[in-house]
Amino acid sequence: MSFNPSEGTFIPFFSFNIKFNLFLIDLNELYKVCSQLKRIISISLLLFLSFGKINAQKTTERVQWFVNDRFGMFIHFGLYSAAEGYWHGEKIRNNNNYAEWIQYRNRIDTKDYISLINRIQWDEIDPEQWVLLAKKAGMKYLTITAKHHDGFALWDSKVSDYDLGNYTSPKRDLIKELSVACKKHGIKLGLYYSHWIDWQHKYGWDHNKELSGLTQKEYDQYWQEKVIPQVRELLTNYGDISIMWFDMWIPHSKTIVTKKQLLQLKDLIRELQPNCLINSRLGLSVDEDNDIDFRTLGDNQLGKEKLDYPWQTAGTVAHSWGFHATENQWNATSKILQNLINNVSLNGNYMLNIGPRANGEIPYEITDRFEKIGNWLKTNGESVYKSGAFDLRSDLHDWGRITTKTENGKTKIYLHVFNWPLDKQLRVTAIQSKPSKIYLLKDKLKTPIPFTHQAVVTRISLPVDLPDPYVSVLVMEFDHKPEIVKGLVGESTGGGYALTPLNTINSKGSTKILSPSRYGTIPQRLIIEEDSKYTWKIYFDKPGTYKVDASYSFQEEKPGKDILLIKTAGQELKHKLQITGKTVGEPNSAWVIDSFNNYNTGSININKPGFYNISLEVKPKDNHIIKFNRLWIEEK
Ligand code: GLC
Repeated sequence: MSFNPSEGTFIPFFSFNIKFNLFLIDLNELYKVCSQLKRIISISLLLFLSFGKINAQKTTERVQWFVNDRFGMFIHFGLYSAAEGYWHGEKIRNNNNYAEWIQYRNRIDTKDYISLINRIQWDEIDPEQWVLLAKKAGMKYLTITAKHHDGFALWDSKVSDYDLGNYTSPKRDLIKELSVACKKHGIKLGLYYSHWIDWQHKYGWDHNKELSGLTQKEYDQYWQEKVIPQVRELLTNYGDISIMWFDMWIPHSKTIVTKKQLLQLKDLIRELQPNCLINSRLGLSVDEDNDIDFRTLGDNQLGKEKLDYPWQTAGTVAHSWGFHATENQWNATSKILQNLINNVSLNGNYMLNIGPRANGEIPYEITDRFEKIGNWLKTNGESVYKSGAFDLRSDLHDWGRITTKTENGKTKIYLHVFNWPLDKQLRVTAIQSKPSKIYLLKDKLKTPIPFTHQAVVTRISLPVDLPDPYVSVLVMEFDHKPEIVKGLVGESTGGGYALTPLNTINSKGSTKILSPSRYGTIPQRLIIEEDSKYTWKIYFDKPGTYKVDASYSFQEEKPGKDILLIKTAGQELKHKLQITGKTVGEPNSAWVIDSFNNYNTGSININKPGFYNISLEVKPKDNHIIKFNRLWIEEK
């Protein structure tokens, strides 16, 4: 149960497997975040479930640049861009607003759909501007939809007439133009190619074929006469292609595509451009084929735990990938930056999308954010590029995320402060070595910032003025690889320790953890049905009296003999479980939930600084169930 995701360790009886993930999936939360994105949820769940296994570290030479670069641009451009999410006055038929799906969703015939080509303002389209924006945003590579699900090729394809070469005059070839611009500005070029789905080819996959049927033989005809020769063209005529980015979000075994076809495609890529990376949405997971270069998570699905295998999140600034006229839920710059930092702190990559309009323009809401992110990276990029996960749980500190890098024997730990503490004390837990210096990354003079260090507690006296409106970064410098102590409970912002089901060092008995549910109104809890014992480790840096609170839900009719025992340093606190009753989760909506209440269980005396194990013993009586939320320990 007690599992430290970023440390890749787990405590007995609960093997690091699918079970763990199932317990932690918060369907309500997922629904909230992607309320309308039903399909995405299934993608996310699938990919999330496949997290169940940590792969051995795999960074081949081929993928090293990708691991170092961390940040790229995704470009969704095609005929759909000209529809702008509307067809004949009607919005795309899906609340997810995926404008590039309009042909399928709104049941548009290919001969009508192609008319969108006339709305594209070719004189104004200059892909070099997209490349320049990527550069400005601090992105190091880009991936364009060479062919999306609609089957239309954005290059001059000899293989199919359904391409730009055939429908523009003078002929345009956006892949050529981009490859030239990328080369000129030192950006690596990747190509998205929809291999599985193709709504134009009569034997390509279209989800309606779930109804009408398609034979393997027919599908193979599509594969051999469109996919293979087009990928050959793309890898032959446009210089170095850094990534072939495929988009089959379910395993091949659940699709019409055969493993043989996928291997044929992979072999072709390896033969034509051995350095080109291939993502897991080819349809072969990294577990099934370790020759896949990196794993692509679900759309907008951020990392939750450190994976030693290169991985990436493809994300949008709002919802749609292709341009959508009425898109208006733009994510804040700070949120996007935090997404990037979060992924890097877990060894991941982030590829952020633009959906240019049919005149090539990129929505202001995107360019504005990209420029701000680029400026931030200009100052702070050192903590992102060539940096990666630190060896502690990434959620150890509630104030932000840590990344690290070691160069010339010196280790730097970058503290990304998302929430600048009001008391101007940044509390860092678990780093045993004393840093030689701490300074703000943006400070070219590296003016030392005062700090104290005791055993595993570093307290940094922060400057009064917030250094950066988005994310401020402090650097801890060490002359060697710093020693750390794993398994500790991190000190909260403002002081105090939250002992949760997730940061134990040991657990015995009941182990089922449920994630927050009903839109988070019911908190994370551990379902205790038998005699159980949980242990946490804390470093107290100050002697003193500490109060201990317990938060739980207990839904019996009347109090019984059920008790909580909290033990540390030879002291014992005994708490008789109280009936917590119900609470209204959401006013006026007949939404009544179990109440989780906080009770003071007493105080403990810590006589001298040191490491202390705190244990909680729970003894339910008469088949009672206790839903344990957390302990809270704070100096009185
Ligand atoms: C999804 C969508 C697609 C989009 C892609 C980006 O799979 O089908 O429209 O291109 O995600 O990750």
